[in-house]
Amino acid sequence: MARPGTESTGEALARLYDLDLVEDPGDVELYRALARRTGGPIIELAVGSGRVAAALVADGHHVVGIDNDPAMLARARARIGAEHVTLVEGDLAAAPSIGVVTSSGPYRLAIIALNSILLLAGAERQRAALAAMARLLEPGGLAVVDAWQPGPQDLVAFDGRLSLEWLRTDPETGNQVTKTVAAWFDPATRLVTLTTVFDEGTPGQPPIRWTRVDALRLVTADELVAYAEAAGLEVEQVAGDHDLGPMEPGSERVVLIARKP
Ligand SMILES: C[S@@+](CC[C@H](N)C(=O)[O-])C[C@H]1O[C@@H](n2cnc3c(N)ncnc32)[C@H](O)[C@@H]1O
Repeated sequence: MARPGTESTGEALARLYDLDLVEDPGDVELYRALARRTGGPIIELAVGSGRVAAALVADGHHVVGIDNDPAMLARARARIGAEHVTLVEGDLAAAPSIGVVTSSGPYRLAIIALNSILLLAGAERQRAALAAMARLLEPGGLAVVDAWQPGPQDLVAFDGRLSLEWLRTDPETGNQVTKTVAAWFDPATRLVTLTTVFDEGTPGQPPIRWTRVDALRLVTADELVAYAEAAGLEVEQVAGDHDLGPMEPGSERVVLIARKP
């Protein structure tokens, strides 16, 4: 990891991702329980900075993680250590054709956590992700995908307005950081263009600004089911939260669990 003050934009954004995630999304217990059920090996597509993988490794599983952001992978490596995790840089849809990924498989559990599927900016890319999961799994293995379902109150605010999300102190740098976001929603394509601005510094000094723009393609539960079935997976559960409660009107997430026959 770079020393504060010498880091690249990618490194800073990866550090700030972890600062964002100090607010626990509450999903790790779900993956720990699924991993107890399936056993390993486990693959996490879009492993990021290793938040979920670290918990699975702590439970004694070997995890293979793939991500296309080297700065996120560097943080995962620093967080977990190299012994029980294999981290690979690449596009998750291409995972089944990466030798080091296939040689550790086939997998009992394949995970796409915390809205990562939305970062695949189009239905075909999302379908390809489910197809990759199916190819990576052994018969009886499980695929799990977790995607945010914004409600009408969220979508109506996705009109470009700036909104302050939080002010925190980064324990790594001691800097005060503010996170501000602006989102645009295009109903025709179901694309949300999300601009995130982090300003960090010490009081009384000019802040450093880091900006990222992400395209999120919203996905419905029906679409996820269709992608899973097209990939030859059998849908076991479509849940509406990380405790696997039912998907119902107003659910803020869809958690799809599908089995390779
Ligand atoms: C919301 S983060 C999730 C990280 C981690 N799974 C977690 O739950 O904290 C999304 C991650 O997806 C990665 N990502 C986005 N598109 C990708 C792609 N096409 N292939 C691999 N990784 C991708 C990003 O680099 C980022 O690390």
